[in-house]
Order: sequence, then C-alpha cells, then structure tokens
Amino acid sequence: MDDKPSQKTASTSYTKSLTTIDHLLSRETTDRCLFELEIHKNCADDKSLFSAISTPIVLNDDEQSFENDTLELSTLTLHGRDVEKATLLQGFENLRTSSRPNDERCPQYTKRQLVLISGTSGTGKTKLAEILRDRVTLQNGLFVRGKFALNMIKEPYSGIAGACAEICGTILDLRFRDPEKYKQVSEEIMVALDAEIGLLSQVIPVLEEIVDIPEQYSVTSTSSDPSLLNDSKSQILFAFRRFVRVAAKVFSPLVMTLDDLQWADTSSFDLLQAIMTDREISKTMVIGIYRSNEVDTNPRLNQYLESLEDEEGTDDCSVTWIEIKDLEVDAVQGIIQDILTCGDGGRTLKLAELCHKKTRGNPFFLLQYLSLLGKKNLLKMTPSTRSWTWNLDEIEGNTYASDNVVDLLKARLREL
Ligand SMILES: Nc1ncnc2c1ncn2[C@@H]1O[C@H](COP(=O)(O)OP(=O)(O)O)[C@@H](O)[C@H]1O
Ligand SMILES: [Mg+2]
Repeated sequence: MDDKPSQKTASTSYTKSLTTIDHLLSRETTDRCLFELEIHKNCADDKSLFSAISTPIVLNDDEQSFENDTLELSTLTLHGRDVEKATLLQGFENLRTSSRPNDERCPQYTKRQLVLISGTSGTGKTKLAEILRDRVTLQNGLFVRGKFALNMIKEPYSGIAGACAEICGTILDLRFRDPEKYKQVSEEIMVALDAEIGLLSQVIPVLEEIVDIPEQYSVTSTSSDPSLLNDSKSQILFAFRRFVRVAAKVFSPLVMTLDDLQWADTSSFDLLQAIMTDREISKTMVIGIYRSNEVDTNPRLNQYLESLEDEEGTDDCSVTWIEIKDLEVDAVQGIIQDILTCGDGGRTLKLAELCHKKTRGNPFFLLQYLSLLGKKNLLKMTPSTRSWTWNLDEIEGNTYASDNVVDLLKARLREL
C-alpha cells in the first residue's frame, strides 16, 4: 500500500518524460542540439532520465583520454540518397535554366516548381532539402527555410512567415554589403506592398526594420487576435504574394523550403496555393516537407496533396514527388564509417548489418542507437590504435530491437 504513491509518481514522471521525448522528436535537427538542455529543463526532477537519454559518448574513466575520444554523432555527407538527390538537383537545374515563355500578359512568367518530400520522422527529409542550400547560393540565388511547429499550429502562416523573415534577414544584410541595392529593394517592397505593408508586418515583424511604415498604414496588433488576421485574409494573401514577387526577382532563383507541413494551418495552404499559381512569381521553387505517417492528422494537408496528386503539374507549376524511405545497409555503413572515422569497409559491415536490423535504417534512430552503444560502453576507443572497437555478440545481447525512434528512446528509459 505504501509504495502506491511512489509508483504513481514514477509513472507520472515516466509519462511526462515520454511526452517530452515525443515533443523533442517533433523538433528540428538543429533544435535537437538543444536536446540535452531541454531534457534537463523538462525533466529537471529526473536526473537519471536526463543522463540516460542525453549522454554523449565518452570513454570510461579508466581509459586513457585523448582529443578524439568522443563520437561526433553527425555526418556532413548524405548517404544512400543518390536517386532522391539527383531528382532534387535536376529540379533545381530545370528551374535555373528555365526560360520565359512568350506570354504577353506577363513577360516575367516562368513556371514555378513545387517539390514535395515525404517520409516518416527521422528519415532525413530536412537533410535532403538542405543539399540545395550551397548550390543555390553558388548560383547567386537564395535558399530560405521556414518551419511549422506543433506548438505553433494555431498561428496562421507561421512557417511561411519564418521563410519570409529569413528573406528579410538577407535583405538587411545588403545594408552593409551593397547599400545601393538595399535602398532599391526596400523601395520596391514599399511600392509593392503599399497599403498592405502594415498588415504584413504583423505576420513578419522584421519587415519594419526594412521599411518605415507610414502612420496611415500601420496596424495595431492583429497577432494577438487571430480573427483579425482571418478577416483580412485576402489582403494578407495578396501582400505575401507581392512580397515573394519582389524577393524572387531580387534573389533569383529563389528556393523556399517549408518544413513539417503536417503542422501547417489552413491559411498556410491557401497561401501556398496562391504563391504557386502567381504568374508573377518567377524562378521560384518551393520544397514542401511533411511526415507521411502524419498526413491524416491534418485534413487540410491531405486535401492539398489530393488536389495535386493526379497531375504532374499545371501550366503554372510543375510538381515533383520525392518519397524517402529508411536507408539500406550500405548507407548505414557509410554513416557508421564517417562517425567512427574509419574507412575500413570490411570491419564495419557486420556492425552496419546489426545496426540496420536494430534501427531499420532510420538515420535519426541510427544516430541515437550509436549514442546508446557508446553510453553502454559497447563501442570503445582503444587508445593504442586510436580506433573504435566493438563486440557484435555483446551488442546483440545488450540492446533492444526497436520499431521506431520513440521506441528506442522508450527502451533507453526502460533501462534505467
Ligand atoms: N542520408 C543521410 N546520411 C547521413 N545522415 C543523415 C541522412 N539522413 C538523415 N541524416 C541525419 O539523421 C538525422 C535526422 O535527419 P532529419 O533530416 O532531421 O530527418 P527528418 O527531417 O526526416 O526528421 C540528422 O542528424 C541528419 O543529419
Ligand atoms: Mg525534419
């Protein structure tokens, strides 16, 4: 009887911890750098949980320590995505070289491109899209990224506004790099947005740093009252389109990644549709990323995808679908070789096969799994040879086979 309250406390703490993990997994990779910090903050009352799921790979105290004794749990290389990468690069190449058809109504017109990347969480959707970043910059274009988040689901346009804020940041950089151009761009924005400037700055506040909003156009805060944003929806859509028109002209080609569309609000899909069909938005690619296993949780996403499904595109917009799956063994091996900094294929093959079996080839899961192996000292640095060693039977016997990322973390919790 006595132990009932403590069991209850433990189970509340466990549930809270799992909620935290679910929440953290919904976050972006870069955010995951804050993983330890967040766990610390959210599970401050549960130090053992904190250390169990956030421990970096470190050597035992009795091992000799030297500089390279911790694993860098990431790799710059994109492994096992040759086909998907080629599709994305080809899409960008088509965009870059696209010419303007003879269209007297709109001489600026080029077809816009919509690329949809789907896959379950942790498969590397964001990482795939990111390969375009350098490529676009090299072509004097602009790559921006906006992300929808579970805790912002009620905030209209949040992901697209985030991408536009990044565009504003690039414009602000021009103040120092190219003041002439800065002046020209800020004037163009002012002219394009005109009376709508105040309204749009409610959704993209950093706009106010680029243009001085005339008193008659300033709007008293709508963000605290979403219904006001709703009332002025058509004006907002129009203002966004005009802003993107200027951005696409100034930073051509423009690539805008909209991540985690499964958490986008209804208005964002209306805006996305408006952008993709705006003939005056030139040389622009939008990369929409979503979790294939969560499409059903967002009826508006479902509806949007269905509207695109039967066509490869329209006159206005071409659509490319990229579905990414879990990685094959050779890609898992590539990641392991990068992380263990050993190029020896033969040595890592069996480990890769085992990791693949345990993680199903989900890259995020794999990185977590390697971290677990380090924590359990199943991956050891041998100081004399400065190389990592392991015993497959020991690994096999000491770790759970898990179905997905959350299960892995749950397994880690069970080991407490
Ligand atoms: N093909 C890959 N090769 C190497 N690392 C990868 C690959 N795919 C994903 N990763 C890594 O796995 C982790 C999860 O990838 P991420 O792009 O955040 O997944 P998603 O966006 O699908 O949730 C990141 O640390 C990422 O760098
Ligand atoms: Mg992602």
